[in-house]
Amino acid sequence: MSNLITRTLGLIAVVGLLNPGAHIGNSQTPQARIKLDVDRTIGEVDRRLFGNFAEHLGRMIYGGVYEEGSPLSDKDGYRKDVMEAVRKLNVSILRWPGGNFASGYNWKDGIGPKDQRPVRAELAWNALESNRFGTDEFLRYCELIQAEPYICVNLGLGTIDDARHWVEYCNESRHTYWADQRRKNGREEPYKVTYWALGNEIDGPWQLGHKSADEYARFALEAAKAMRAVDRGVKLVASGSSNYGADWVGWNRTVLNTLRNTIDFIAIHTYISNRENDLERFLAWSQTIENYIDVTAGLIKQAQTGPNPRPIYIAYDEWNVWYRAFERERLEEVYNFEDALATGMIFNCFFRHANVVKMANLAQMVNVIAPIMTNKEGLFLQPTFFPIVEYGKQRGNTALDVWVSAPSYNIANRPPLRYLDVSATYNPRDRVIYLNVLNRSKDKDVSTRIENQEGEIGNHVAVWEMNHADLKATHAFGDDKKVRPVEREVMPSVKNNEFVYTFPAHSLTILRLGLK
Ligand code: AHR
Repeated sequence: MSNLITRTLGLIAVVGLLNPGAHIGNSQTPQARIKLDVDRTIGEVDRRLFGNFAEHLGRMIYGGVYEEGSPLSDKDGYRKDVMEAVRKLNVSILRWPGGNFASGYNWKDGIGPKDQRPVRAELAWNALESNRFGTDEFLRYCELIQAEPYICVNLGLGTIDDARHWVEYCNESRHTYWADQRRKNGREEPYKVTYWALGNEIDGPWQLGHKSADEYARFALEAAKAMRAVDRGVKLVASGSSNYGADWVGWNRTVLNTLRNTIDFIAIHTYISNRENDLERFLAWSQTIENYIDVTAGLIKQAQTGPNPRPIYIAYDEWNVWYRAFERERLEEVYNFEDALATGMIFNCFFRHANVVKMANLAQMVNVIAPIMTNKEGLFLQPTFFPIVEYGKQRGNTALDVWVSAPSYNIANRPPLRYLDVSATYNPRDRVIYLNVLNRSKDKDVSTRIENQEGEIGNHVAVWEMNHADLKATHAFGDDKKVRPVEREVMPSVKNNEFVYTFPAHSLTILRLGLK
C-alpha cells in the first residue's frame, strides 16, 4: 500500500511538471480569495523561530544525540547519523538542558573528567543522570551543528550563585576561578553564550522549586542582575506561563511588570492535542495559540508604557503536538500525517505574529516528542520533520499581512474559522513570495483566486505539498518514505496578476511565486 502511494505521488509529481494543470482550478467562481501585497508587512521572520530543544529526558540526549561506544558515534560520542539529520533541520538555536530537568540540575556536576562526574537521582523525570553529557559537550554540539546555544538556568531548586557561575564558566575571558575551570577542561576561548532562560515553567505546581508570580519575579530579577554583572551582553528570557488552567495572564503581567527593564523575551509554551480524533477541531488550535500570543503581546505593551521602554519579544520556547506518550512511554510520540499539518499551522501562527514572536523552539529534537527517532541501528524521520525543514527556508524573509476570504466552520461557540489557514513571506533579494496554505477541511478541496497587488507574478509556480489519504499514516524504522512532501512546478494561467489554484482537502501547500 505504502509503495503504491509513494509511486502514485511520484507520478503526480512528474505529471505536475508535464501537465501544469494539476491543482490549477479553472472554476469561474473560486470559493476563496487570497490577496498578497509585498508592501503590507508584519515583520522579519526571525531566524530564531527555527529553534529546537534538547532536554535530559528519556532518550533525547543519551541514545539520541549522544551514545558513547556506538559504532554510529564519533570518537566523542556524538551520533553521526543523528547529527546529519539534525543538520537538515537547520536548527538556529538550541535550548538545553530542560525543561523540567533544569529545575533540579546542578551544572557543576556535568563538567570535568567524565569518570569523576557524579551520578545523581533525577527528580523531574524519575531517572538517573550520569552527567556524562554536560556544558562542554552541549556547547561543542552546538558548534558542530552551527546552532546558537540557549541555556536554561535552574531557578527552581538552584541558587543565584549557581546561575552567575555558569555564565562565568561559559563567557568569562579573564582568569577567574570558573573561567579557569573551563580552561582546565580543555576550552581556552569563552563560548560566548548569549541566550539564557531564567528558569523553566516556574508557574507550574509540577515544577521543582515552583514559586508564586511575585516570588519568581523578584528572584529572577536578582538572578538576572548577577548574570548581567558577569556578562553585560547576555539576552535573558523570563519564564512566562505554561499553566493555562491557572491565572496565566496574571503571571505574565507580574513577570513583565517586574522584569520590564531587564528581560529581552518572555517564554510561553503550548502543546496541542487531538484527543477527540477530529481533524478540523485539532487544526483549530491556531485560535488558542494566537490568543496566547495576542494576550501576551498586549501585556508586553502595557509593561512598556514608561519612557525608553526596553524591547521585549515572545520566545515560544516549547511547542509541539503532545498527547499520546507520557512518562511511561518516555514521551516517544509517534507522529502521523495530521501532526505534520498541525506543524505547518503553528508556523503560520508564528509568521502571522512575526513582529512579536522572535524565537520558537520545537520541543524536542530527537526521540522525545521529536521529528527524529533512533534505535541502536539507525534512525527514521517522522512526518513532522518535513514541514520544519521547508518552513525553515523562509528565515530572514519579511512576513506579509495577507488578506483571506474563505469558507469557514465553527468549533463550539468560538468565532468562525476559515478552512484555509494562511501565512506568506517575501524574500526581496530573490523577489519571491512564499504562500503557506493549510486546508483544514477533512474532505473539501478549496479553489482559490490568488491576487497579487505589487509587482507582477510570473507563470512558473513551484509547489511543495504534503498530503496523504490516511490522516493517521505514520513512519517506522525502515519505512519512512510514505508521508513525504511532493514538489512540482506548475504553470497557472496568470491574468491581471491573479490565478486560480485548488488546495486539496487536508493538505499543506507552500507556493513559491516569483515576481518579474
Ligand atoms: O518538553 C517536555 C516538558 O514539557 C518540559 O520538560 C517541560 O518544560 C514541559 O512541561
